Amino acid sequence: MERGFQLFPKAASTFAFHVDALYLTLTGISVFFSLLIFTLIIVFAIRYRRRPGREAVQVGDAFALEMFWTAVPTVLTLGIFIWSSVLFIDQSTPPNGAREISVVGQQWMWKVQHSNGRREINELHVPAGQAVKLTLTSQDVIHSFYVPAFRVKQDAIPGQYRTLWFQATEPGEYHLFCAEYCGTNHSHMIGRVVVMKDVDYQGWLGGASERTPEEAGKELFTQFDCASCHESGQRQRCPTLGGLYGTQVELEDGRKVLFDESYIRESVIDPAAKVAKGFPPVMPSFRGQVSEEQMLDLIAYIKSLAPAQQRELLNRPKP
Ligand code: CUA
Repeated sequence: MERGFQLFPKAASTFAFHVDALYLTLTGISVFFSLLIFTLIIVFAIRYRRRPGREAVQVGDAFALEMFWTAVPTVLTLGIFIWSSVLFIDQSTPPNGAREISVVGQQWMWKVQHSNGRREINELHVPAGQAVKLTLTSQDVIHSFYVPAFRVKQDAIPGQYRTLWFQATEPGEYHLFCAEYCGTNHSHMIGRVVVMKDVDYQGWLGGASERTPEEAGKELFTQFDCASCHESGQRQRCPTLGGLYGTQVELEDGRKVLFDESYIRESVIDPAAKVAKGFPPVMPSFRGQVSEEQMLDLIAYIKSLAPAQQRELLNRPKP
């Protein structure tokens, strides 16, 4: 990891070059205009100073000059706006097929879980040259996941899921910080991101035989007896969940809501908030019974469920 004074952290993601280019351009423009303005102030102050025999005069219209110094900043700021918007949209849109990893912030550590169930604390192992999508949330207060070498930062907020994606370019170790003051030991909420070659990463990932989030989620689903209401059959009182992820769900009051991570979480904690159309509001709240990590497991399981008809077809006895 890099130590000592550095003007810029190492550039180790596909975003880094673009963010640095924008940053240097902004700095360049600011330096240029600061120097220009200060130089002109000094030159004009000397040149047009009040002297015996020459009094100050009021200068009238200078239409062309005024248009010029209105148009130039307008073009410059619009250009910066468009350039940074393109970067922002790119950073906010994880590509399809990105490797998904979940991260939970908690006073004062980062808890990471990979798609095969492997867990780590204050460390994040990722492969180089592949898009990685983090789903971030917090167990307590607002934290912020910050990797300067990748030029990415995203808040981890209790009760919400935020995503952050990047593609690391170079194997190595990089600083991981919490960039939001979150209590006494905020400054200790640090760690490292280890970028590995793909083969090394596969080896590292395969070295553990832990339950996948889907398996853990399935167990919780059974443990909390969710199936008794959510499975199709005579006792069904709630929607079957298979194939719902990513679709629009119609609510009792006619609104539509996207069936995503946040909706699943809200429905577990506060089931009455958005009740699906055609079902009675009978579900009890599981507030305080499910930790943020268990919630992520449950979500992974629900995401993995195939649509109901598809499962019936799969389970149908072969003729
Ligand atoms: Cu967590 Cu600062």
